[in-house]
Amino acid sequence: MVDPRVYDAMTKSVVGCMDPFFFEMLDQIRPMLRRAFGTQNEITLAVSGTGSAGMETAVANFVEPGSKFGVFANGFFAERLAEMGRRQGAVVVRLEKPWGEVFSEEEAAGFVRGEKPDVVAFVHAETSTGALQDPHAITRAARETGALVIADTVTSLGAIPVAMDETGIDIAYSCSQKGLSCPPGLAPLSASPRAMERLQARKSPMHEWYLDLRLLAEYYDGRKYHHTASASLFYALHEGLRVIDEEGLGNRFDRHWRSHRALVKGIEGLGLCMHVAEGHRIPNVNVVRVPDGVSDIEVRKHLRDKYGIDILGGLGVLAGKVFRIGLMGPLANDDCVRMFLDAFGDALRAASQ
Ligand SMILES: Cc1ncc(COP(=O)(O)O)c(C=O)c1O
Repeated sequence: MVDPRVYDAMTKSVVGCMDPFFFEMLDQIRPMLRRAFGTQNEITLAVSGTGSAGMETAVANFVEPGSKFGVFANGFFAERLAEMGRRQGAVVVRLEKPWGEVFSEEEAAGFVRGEKPDVVAFVHAETSTGALQDPHAITRAARETGALVIADTVTSLGAIPVAMDETGIDIAYSCSQKGLSCPPGLAPLSASPRAMERLQARKSPMHEWYLDLRLLAEYYDGRKYHHTASASLFYALHEGLRVIDEEGLGNRFDRHWRSHRALVKGIEGLGLCMHVAEGHRIPNVNVVRVPDGVSDIEVRKHLRDKYGIDILGGLGVLAGKVFRIGLMGPLANDDCVRMFLDAFGDALRAASQ
């Protein structure tokens, strides 16, 4: 759900992408983004495009052709990371786990020691499965061999702590439409000084011009025209981040966890099971197993037609097997949880008849 204040902000007059007012706004956005990412990284900005543009910026800049790219593959978006690495001409090596499970530090260390990838990537909050990966398990292993760590924080930023500097993530990217409660269209991204040093030393030229981080940094820091960034989307991001700052990140994280716990209790009360083991779940995307004999399509249709509530089904190997229930931003509150559980119970009953 887009925060109502964000809608209001988007109605402001559109200024040009080189307007001093626009740059002033960017200067205010960057510290707020740093707080959300939990970092002091100078290179913290928003790429024009959705979360996938953030992913492609991370992979295209830091994964060179011929280099070794290690992917922790336990879900749909990890597969997308691997595919982007393959398209960059990297040698992609994978450590696999069933969808819904996460990697332990021992597993990550074994993989990284054995393969010695130049860069590794993992999905912090895997939206396709509902699993939350502990970043430390991967960053500690990667530090041993000097691999750079890319983290997909598309679903975590603004809803769950990313704590880049504390966890040792080198590059994190996200989106505007999930934990930040804005419309889609911008991809916040942050890169550590270590990552930027590696980028400066890059041997092969970057194929992508639009996503070239060094050029983007010249736009942000050097005020040098790069592309016509959308003022309206940046107004939205600016306001979305102000809303978060006013609530306080800690309060916002707690609110997501409280709603998650209430939802899980209700889901279990309806006799359904969560897909991911307790302790490894994302609070803001709740993945629930579809009970035997129930059509997920029927349930979702009932919810949409009768209540105007949109939940998602499973992707890839989980298609037809799970429901994915988003509970983030303004929706993460007791009233919404109660309203949803009533509607969900009704939809399950209707689909079982
Ligand atoms: C974990 C994750 N990574 C990447 C993406 C891609 O983001 P977008 O659809 O905004 O391009 C998504 C989208 O849901 C996602 O959940």
